[in-house]
Amino acid sequence: MARHLITSAIPYINGIKHLGNLVGSQLPADLFARYQRARGNEVMFICATDEHGTPAELAAAKAGKPVADYCAEMHDVQAEIARGFRLSFDHFGRSSSAQNRALTQHFAKQLAENGLIREVTEQQMYSVADGRFLPDRYIEGTCPNCGYDSARGDQCDNCTKQLDPVDLINPHSVISGSTDLEMRETKHLFLRQSAMKDKLAEWIDSKADWPVLTTSIAKKWLFDGEGLQDRGITRDLSWGVPAQFEGAPWAGMEGKVFYVWFDAPIEYIAATQEWADKTGGDWARWWRTDKGADDVTYTQFMGKDNVPFHTLSFPSTILGSDEPWKLVDYIKSFNYLNYDGGQFSTSRGRGVFMDQALEILPADYWRWWLLSHAPESSDAEFTWDNFQGSVNKDLADVLGNFVSRITKFTRSKFGEAVPEGGSWGEQEAALIEELTTRIRAYEQFMEEKEVRKAASELRAIWVAGNEYLQASAPWSVFKTDPAQAAAIARLALNLVRLYAVLSAPFIPDAAEGTMGAMHCDDWSWPGDVKAALETLPAGHAFTTPEVLFRKIADEEREDWQQRFAGIRS
Ligand code: MF3
Ligand code: ZN
Repeated sequence: MARHLITSAIPYINGIKHLGNLVGSQLPADLFARYQRARGNEVMFICATDEHGTPAELAAAKAGKPVADYCAEMHDVQAEIARGFRLSFDHFGRSSSAQNRALTQHFAKQLAENGLIREVTEQQMYSVADGRFLPDRYIEGTCPNCGYDSARGDQCDNCTKQLDPVDLINPHSVISGSTDLEMRETKHLFLRQSAMKDKLAEWIDSKADWPVLTTSIAKKWLFDGEGLQDRGITRDLSWGVPAQFEGAPWAGMEGKVFYVWFDAPIEYIAATQEWADKTGGDWARWWRTDKGADDVTYTQFMGKDNVPFHTLSFPSTILGSDEPWKLVDYIKSFNYLNYDGGQFSTSRGRGVFMDQALEILPADYWRWWLLSHAPESSDAEFTWDNFQGSVNKDLADVLGNFVSRITKFTRSKFGEAVPEGGSWGEQEAALIEELTTRIRAYEQFMEEKEVRKAASELRAIWVAGNEYLQASAPWSVFKTDPAQAAAIARLALNLVRLYAVLSAPFIPDAAEGTMGAMHCDDWSWPGDVKAALETLPAGHAFTTPEVLFRKIADEEREDWQQRFAGIRS
């Protein structure tokens, strides 16, 4: 039995994520986790909310809540939506946990002891009225480039120019509005990533099977321009993991916390500790190669903007610690999903967000479309036309129709039990051969995390069943040879069960429903396909299921298209 550690990039706590976020990390990670469990392997599937940093502080302030309360509430909201999408995390943690605080401080200390941390004194904007240093995003002013009056210290949202707070005209504090700002000296910790460059390059070079998207981004950061730079890992904030702590190998870091991107990936480990504390499980056998994790396969899922942090920063933390932590084995990254000719926009309410999606259709409809259109080799685009087409064709016409036709036919001619009699001939042998080839290909694509290819192979498996039914025409055969019609129905009913098994990683609810209708709970993965099609013996009762997937009507499509176009702001 193989052991798979699987992590999804942890979503920021502020706000509900859109479908593009979902398909870039959590959903494909869930697909892989479900598949590996279905194959009988041991899985630890981890996700969490990313709760520190300025976006969380600002969102809490906007909501008029203490940041800790805001995070606790939003964590529950995100956890609930994740359940709605059937994301099968073994644990959905919180980066603000005590476990993450301790572990983040441990790693920082370890890095310092290995000479990989240096202290840097910088000039930074200080707000006299607020009595604190202001991170770039806490400063607003007029854009020197376009004149927009609410440009942020790091970027102008109007003309997208990257800015430095000192560039702004009439800068003021976002917290108090005060313009009494001055440059003051402040000290920060830097992680000496440059010292890790050769080690990282060698490691990335050894990953010949990684997606080009992953390795090309990593190499760009390693070698372009001046090459890999050291990174500031502390910030002047109060919400986060304190940079000054008992036993810290430095002094004078009071009032500072670790940068959110330093502690966030450490949460993958800390969340597993949270899981262990809750369940009495053993986290170390997943993460410590000296405690059994040497036979673990670790796969990470993320959007392309996350790649530098997972190929360079987090590995610097792991390798630099010089302790036997498990390093990632495979990084699956995704391009972006666009929305109907543009981008998803949280601020403009443009596109479908996770909560809204579940309000209009069940999870399986979204899971199927998103996964079968995953932005793997390039950016992809969600359009309502395409969504309607996929749902109506793949789910309703192909899979749904197959299940409904054969169960209804059998019920009307033989009653609701697998019928007896007849025998399988050439047509059945050909079908079994085709299914065998396709199932082996499907397995291969799933192992390779080729999400779209796996989806299209699964669709082809559904189509094969439909074509078999069409060609063998049990409704005509029944008139002259009822026993032969029974043999066809017996195979097709078993195929319904087999489809539930194979489809469950993509559409878990429909799979459950179908398996239930077949009065069966044998989820065993098909080795020998012929044997798998003999699982339900003659006489085995079933219930004709309700409509598995309904079609999306044109009026609905038009209605939704208008509703999510982004008028609300
Ligand atoms: N919160 C980040 C994002 O949504 C992802 C963090 S993944 C991490 O882009 F684990 F590395 F933290
Ligand atoms: Zn501007």
